[in-house]
Amino acid sequence: MKKILELKDISYRYPDGTGALSGVSMEISEGESIAIVGPNGGGKSTLLMILSALVPPSEGEIWIFGEKMDEKLIDNAKKMFPLRKRLGIMFQDPDVQLFSATVFDDVAFGPINYGISGKNLKKMVMGALRYLGIEHLAERHPYELSGGEKRKAALATTIVSDPEVLIMDEPTADLDPESRNEVVDVINRFRETGKTVIVATHDMEMVPEVAGRVIVLNKSIMMDGRIEDVLIDKEVMEKAGLERPYSVRILEILKKMGIPTEDFPFKTEEALKWMEHALSGHKED
Ligand SMILES: Nc1ncnc2c1ncn2[C@@H]1O[C@H](COP(=O)(O)OP(=O)(O)OP(=O)(O)O)[C@@H](O)[C@H]1O
Ligand SMILES: [Mg+2]
Repeated sequence: MKKILELKDISYRYPDGTGALSGVSMEISEGESIAIVGPNGGGKSTLLMILSALVPPSEGEIWIFGEKMDEKLIDNAKKMFPLRKRLGIMFQDPDVQLFSATVFDDVAFGPINYGISGKNLKKMVMGALRYLGIEHLAERHPYELSGGEKRKAALATTIVSDPEVLIMDEPTADLDPESRNEVVDVINRFRETGKTVIVATHDMEMVPEVAGRVIVLNKSIMMDGRIEDVLIDKEVMEKAGLERPYSVRILEILKKMGIPTEDFPFKTEEALKWMEHALSGHKED
């Protein structure tokens, strides 16, 4: 698979001297779906800003779609334009993303910048709002929305331009269970089209639902691997202050009971079904 993002020994310090990242290296290939997890202040949002080419690292090197980033290039709006179009970013704070008089105008902002207007613009914007089930919010003022509605509106601004890479910071925070599941579905529909997904989250149940790879980050990378290897690593998860998803706890019980657990699924719903099936077989034996 084609490498689309490459980081070599990245460090980042904020202007006030706070060190947010240190010695971070990774490669991300097209079509991968990656969850970035870790404690508060662990550097997830900072890493996403670097991956989105919004800020250059203080030290180290980064290539985005094969292009080496530096401060001069990142500041060159014209040169960065085609590259930015390929990256869709959703910030942790939806207020950063919503600044127009209406939700429609906010979602239309990106496409207008890419030269789209008239009927096509309306079609694109309403399409994105429909995709997220928030058409009825089109004419509302973004500041007057609830936390969850804001998050969905912010996600609409991200997906409207159909980016190749979807980078999301806490997309399920503030959402009720139904809305959360809708957002998970949106992410998965996006994945199914072969696009790349990078999501920073504290929603550990979501990790197996949307990602194949997990990166545990606490200023530097504590672990980077397949979900089935990372999520079961009790020591790393505890050290990072993370709760393991329910499926992992179910897996541990099954193992303790001596039940073979090959092909055990890590999505909670599937894990429960798998356990029910395994236990009913166990009882009959
Ligand atoms: N604008 C800023 N100026 C100075 N320090 C900052 C700034 N933004 C973040 N930091 C610091 O950088 C570190 C990493 O913060 P970051 O927001 O990347 O963490 P995070 O993993 O996203 O945390 P959370 O889970 O709370 O969202 C923290 O120590 C934080 O205090
Ligand atoms: Mg954050």
